Amino acid sequence: MARPKIALIGAGQIGGTLAHLAARKELGDIVLFDIPDFEGTAKGKALDIAQSGPIGGFDASITGTSDFADLAGVDVCIVTAGVPRKPGMSRDDLLGINLKVMKSVGEGIKKHAPNAFVICVTNPLDAMVWALREFSGLPQNKVVGMAGVLDAGRFQHFLSLEFGVSMRDVSAFVLGGHGDTMVPLTRYSTVAGIPLPDLVAMGWTTQEKLDAIVQRTRDGGAEIVGLLKTGSAFYAPAASAIEMAEAYLRDQKRLLPCAAYVKGAYGLDGLYVGVPVVIGAGGVERVVEIKLNADENAMFQKSVDSVKGLVAACKGIDPSLA
Ligand code: APR
Repeated sequence: MARPKIALIGAGQIGGTLAHLAARKELGDIVLFDIPDFEGTAKGKALDIAQSGPIGGFDASITGTSDFADLAGVDVCIVTAGVPRKPGMSRDDLLGINLKVMKSVGEGIKKHAPNAFVICVTNPLDAMVWALREFSGLPQNKVVGMAGVLDAGRFQHFLSLEFGVSMRDVSAFVLGGHGDTMVPLTRYSTVAGIPLPDLVAMGWTTQEKLDAIVQRTRDGGAEIVGLLKTGSAFYAPAASAIEMAEAYLRDQKRLLPCAAYVKGAYGLDGLYVGVPVVIGAGGVERVVEIKLNADENAMFQKSVDSVKGLVAACKGIDPSLA
């Protein structure tokens, strides 16, 4: 059987890291795509990673291109095309520029990779994944956004530091949009199965410290932008998107928090927002609806409203989306 084909649209910081991770995991053959001005970057990174194959002990064909025709037959497409944040910018500040990028990329996918499972990483995520789906015309269950895996990863990391336990034993559950309106579900987040509220009661931490960790998680991207100064996070975002791609390619039926199209569940009438979903060979196979208490629901609704506002802004900028 032929190896799966993975297209990485955007050969920047995240795109290059994605290519390296996908190659090391032997997920398939890789095409790194960028605009003509950066075709050299795509080709150069592809060659560099390919040359690490004999040393790292992996087989994969890795090529760079700026021709959408090279996306033919792609199984998974991960989209990081666009511009990242600089210090002082919010993700929403990227909306106008990155919407145009989603149009170009969405139309390219529609024409050359209509059977792909598409993972959007470009910010502001919840609006960009919606726009990418609209421009590509692909089924909603085949277009999903990466945010929750990353937010949960950040939350898990900070919790492991607080408790002095392995990150492997911490599991975190988040809902909602990427960033300020992220909804951390502390009662579903655990250390080896012990929920966070119980750990507060056990004296492992205090509610104040937990609240501070939640806030640091919400600001996790901005903290890294502030340190890097020239761009935004890329290692953890790439690792998160690869986990989603692998779930699809290997039909793992992973239950992961993703920006998915929700119609019916959570009282939503067709909106991309962060919810737990099952990812397998069918793409987003199931949206998992959990019961929220009043506080959680209030936070979730705030998140939903913020995503609706961004979608409305997209429609204002590009009337073809209205
Ligand atoms: N088609 C293809 N690639 C494009 C296009 C386009 N229309 N427009 C821009 N690009 C490419 C750029 O040339 C660049 O190489 O997208 C790449 C983006 O890479 P970086 O600037 O390094 O950004 P990165 O850190 O990878 O983040 C990409 O993901 O997390 C989000 O907020 C982040 O929106 C940003 C995106």
